[in-house]
Amino acid sequence: MLNKNFKIGIFDSGIGGLTVAKAINDLCPEVSLLYVGDTAHMPWGDKSTAHIISYAIKITEFLIQNNCNIIVIACYTASANALAAISDKFSQIKLFNVIDPIILFLKQEPPKNNIGLIGTKQTIRSGTFQNQLSQVIAIATPILAPLIEEGLINNAATDLILEQYLTKLDLADQSVLLLGCTHYGLIKPNIENYYAKINKNIKVIDGAMLVAKQIKNFLKNNFNLSNLKPNLELNSKVNKFYVTDDSEFFLRSAKQFFADINLDFLPLWE
Ligand code: DGL
Repeated sequence: MLNKNFKIGIFDSGIGGLTVAKAINDLCPEVSLLYVGDTAHMPWGDKSTAHIISYAIKITEFLIQNNCNIIVIACYTASANALAAISDKFSQIKLFNVIDPIILFLKQEPPKNNIGLIGTKQTIRSGTFQNQLSQVIAIATPILAPLIEEGLINNAATDLILEQYLTKLDLADQSVLLLGCTHYGLIKPNIENYYAKINKNIKVIDGAMLVAKQIKNFLKNNFNLSNLKPNLELNSKVNKFYVTDDSEFFLRSAKQFFADINLDFLPLWE
């Protein structure tokens, strides 16, 4: 049986991973979540690989020390650049990342045309998607995550910047566009509106639900669950969120996903 204290550790540089946390919470409502947004170092996508690894390792250590049973790297930048280092160092813990489920999905359901990819500099530079999929056209869109982290989502300036990036990507009809940064899930409607406006049939893929499904399957297969139904009374479910620096917008954005959010400052770097 699933232990009633089962806890999933989730991390990202900021609010992006909340898109993944929300999908996991929706699909696996009986498990507790422990979330860390490393707002002290956001954006990770512009940092060196060594820095990204050191942030990811320290946060993983914190999550393990706080009794997480599995860890979800809810960040494409860290999944692309720090996964090997994390699994080498913490071989005892089951790790999930946001890239593998999308690769699997696209291998099962290849698009008719190209695969467009937008992500941070370090995700695109790593070549993680390009090495595993053919027909990938990728560009780095580094300004988007900081705009989203600042809460500039329904915003004309964000849409203008988005338009400039997507014009440069120039995808043919019937391609797919991968949102290779968990922050971009928050502007998926803006991206879909852009393609609707120029009359292009592009399927925009945000991997949050794919990861959540993978985790739900893992819980079913490994904990003998025939049916994952919330049983909040029997369960001691608690969702807890931390940020590593003051972030004016984190709370506001997080409330869209978790109305009764329990958020605190975590002095991980002091
Ligand atoms: N949300 C992150 C990702 O998926 C990182 C954004 C950033 O911090 O640059 O890559």
